Amino acid sequence: MKFVGENIAIGNVLVSEIAEKYGTPTYVYDEEKIRSNFRKVNAAFKKYYPDFKMFYAVKSCNNPAIVNILRQEGAGVDAASVNEIRLAKYVGLDGEDVMFSGNFLSDDDIKQGLESGVIFNLDDISILPRMLKYGKPEILSFRVNPGYGKSNVGEYVTNAGPNAKFGIHPDKVMEAYRLAKEAGIKRFGAHMMTGSCITDPEYFPFVTGLLMDIIGKVSKELQIDFEFIDLGGGLGIPYRPDEEGLDLEKAAELTSAMFVKKCEEYGMRRPQLKLEPARYFVGNAGWIVGRVHAIKESYKKIAGTDVGMNTLARPAMYGSYHHIYVDGKENEKRANIGLCGQLCENTDFWVKERELPESIAEGDLIVVENAGAYGFGMSYQYNGRLRPAEVLVKNGETMLIRKREEFEDMIRHTSVPEYLEK
Ligand code: LLP
Repeated sequence: MKFVGENIAIGNVLVSEIAEKYGTPTYVYDEEKIRSNFRKVNAAFKKYYPDFKMFYAVKSCNNPAIVNILRQEGAGVDAASVNEIRLAKYVGLDGEDVMFSGNFLSDDDIKQGLESGVIFNLDDISILPRMLKYGKPEILSFRVNPGYGKSNVGEYVTNAGPNAKFGIHPDKVMEAYRLAKEAGIKRFGAHMMTGSCITDPEYFPFVTGLLMDIIGKVSKELQIDFEFIDLGGGLGIPYRPDEEGLDLEKAAELTSAMFVKKCEEYGMRRPQLKLEPARYFVGNAGWIVGRVHAIKESYKKIAGTDVGMNTLARPAMYGSYHHIYVDGKENEKRANIGLCGQLCENTDFWVKERELPESIAEGDLIVVENAGAYGFGMSYQYNGRLRPAEVLVKNGETMLIRKREEFEDMIRHTSVPEYLEK
């Protein structure tokens, strides 16, 4: 995103042109930014640990065009469900380029996961005997809860430690691999995902040490030659203008050093190192272009826009901050103003008060920053406010990559029993 005079452009296209062509609200992604985000992480980690591979967690933004960009860059897919495995296959990724990390799986999930032939990453020891009823995967990994997690989004996305639902308890990890080995499985990996949006570089080596202390002992006692260790996602981005970003170089250097040190300590042959970032790839490469439709002077001034909690759930769900720009007015005098969407819920009043241009008015365009990750993917249709369009920008050109939903999408898959039609 940049300013052209007073106006805002994404990937060299004015947001006013995007709004004119595609309407609002619209998610806009900058292809070059996604590619350069991927390359930054890849270069940083490969420099310190060359046997390194990344899997894009498609839950963050599942548009096939976006998944294809990351596939072209060399990413595999981290899938949370059978449908996300299908999405990976749809873009041409398969086998060991896909990790299946679902949790609390149904028997059907297990069967289809096995049939899909991707890497199975089991969230608990209890799934193992259920899985073995249906078959044996070629390679198996367990998601370990190493006992600690954290996140800049607070407890909401802290995915390990005593309050998390994810992963195997550390005391059960040895038994899990023992049972899997006894069942005849020959190839193994290990996984964790301890928290999302972390900008402290020291965190990554710390949790790597915790995981490796658990896995190192398993490797020694069961003589398992781990083929990969997957440290999950979690690379954070700054959301507030004054917030510091992650020192990627430092995170990569310290994490690799810890990884190598622990491999040596436990006499492990060096496994492939995997990461599953999502937010870092797409978070700051996506924006929402929305429009102000009404201004209310009430207890305070409120700008009503078409960007509601149905469009971007994060502020209402987690109290997350997303920076907002007003096209053409960023240099104007500011005042404390509220901003909301159009839903009949007060959590939709997602900016209670913020310094915004005082002259904000009907018809103005707003641009919501850092909306690429967990934006569209978490949007929904409440109040008949349907899901927005998605547009990709490249070399100054825009491409529609998902149509805006219409009324037919709202009633699709519903049916009315005949007697109710009378
Ligand atoms: N791997 C697994 C198994 C995951 O569950 C996740 C995200 C990732 C990788 C990618 O994590 P990242 O690099 O984006 O931190 N909706 C929340 C975030 C939930 C994260 C869920 N898991 C938010 O909007 O902040």
